[in-house]
Amino acid sequence: MPFIKTVSLSSDASEAEPDDYPLGVPAIRSLSEAMLRLHPKCTFLVGENGSGKSTLLEGIADRWGFDREGGGRNRNLYAKELWSDLGPHLSLLRKTGCNPMDGFFLRAESFFNFASALDQFEEDPYTADNYFSYGGKSLHQQSHGESFLTLFNMRFHGDGVYILDEPEAALSPQRQLAFLVRMNDLIRDNSQFIIATHSPILLGYPDATIYELDENGLREIEYEESQPYQITNRFMKDRHRMLDYLLSDED
Ligand SMILES: Nc1ncnc2c1ncn2[C@@H]1O[C@H](COP(=O)(O)OP(=O)(O)OP(=O)(O)O)[C@@H](O)[C@H]1O
Ligand SMILES: [Mg+2]
Repeated sequence: MPFIKTVSLSSDASEAEPDDYPLGVPAIRSLSEAMLRLHPKCTFLVGENGSGKSTLLEGIADRWGFDREGGGRNRNLYAKELWSDLGPHLSLLRKTGCNPMDGFFLRAESFFNFASALDQFEEDPYTADNYFSYGGKSLHQQSHGESFLTLFNMRFHGDGVYILDEPEAALSPQRQLAFLVRMNDLIRDNSQFIIATHSPILLGYPDATIYELDENGLREIEYEESQPYQITNRFMKDRHRMLDYLLSDED
């Protein structure tokens, strides 16, 4: 279900200079020329470090009503006070007449704060039910990967928009596969995902659009064209040659 159909710029960024943040980031500036069409099930953002994936994800999450710290959607969709630098310049085309029941914005760097907020639920009898929906064990007492999977399995209920920034950071390859299975279940339950990732495993999800962000802007690519796939594939096929080249003493 495409809750969000397109993302476009409501400000003119054509004159933005490279160091004007965020409109000067090439991928963001390119939204002046063409809006971003989201896949109804899953849209991936890939690209080098610094290409603008988090900037774009945060702008979308902000516009969709998620809080800066991540977590579920608490704010009114039309709230005026936006927190991301890009949020005020974005406009989302939402599918009319459908209101998602669930949603989550996962920021890798703020997961710790989110886990702390959940711990406070345990102490409050009025919100203890909420806490137990996270598995009844403090996320701080679970390993990084365990707590992420607990979140995916227990807190994501379907019929929602899930915006995730590098969810693979905590997950072993095996658990990334488990994540794909869970994501597929949630998509069957009427959910839409938008994910920034460097993982060649997550990117393999078949029913998705992949956008690559780089110095030229933003374009749709095939899985096999993506850097995470190409570099991992080359490494796996002939790691000795690649390592000899990378680690040789010659300039
Ligand atoms: N608050 C900010 N003020 C100014 N520039 C910023 C700010 N946040 C990010 N940038 C710059 O904007 C560009 C895009 O950053 P962003 O964090 O969106 O990249 P990314 O694609 O998410 O990278 P990574 O893969 O490392 O997470 C980078 O050049 C970064 O230095
Ligand atoms: Mg990032």
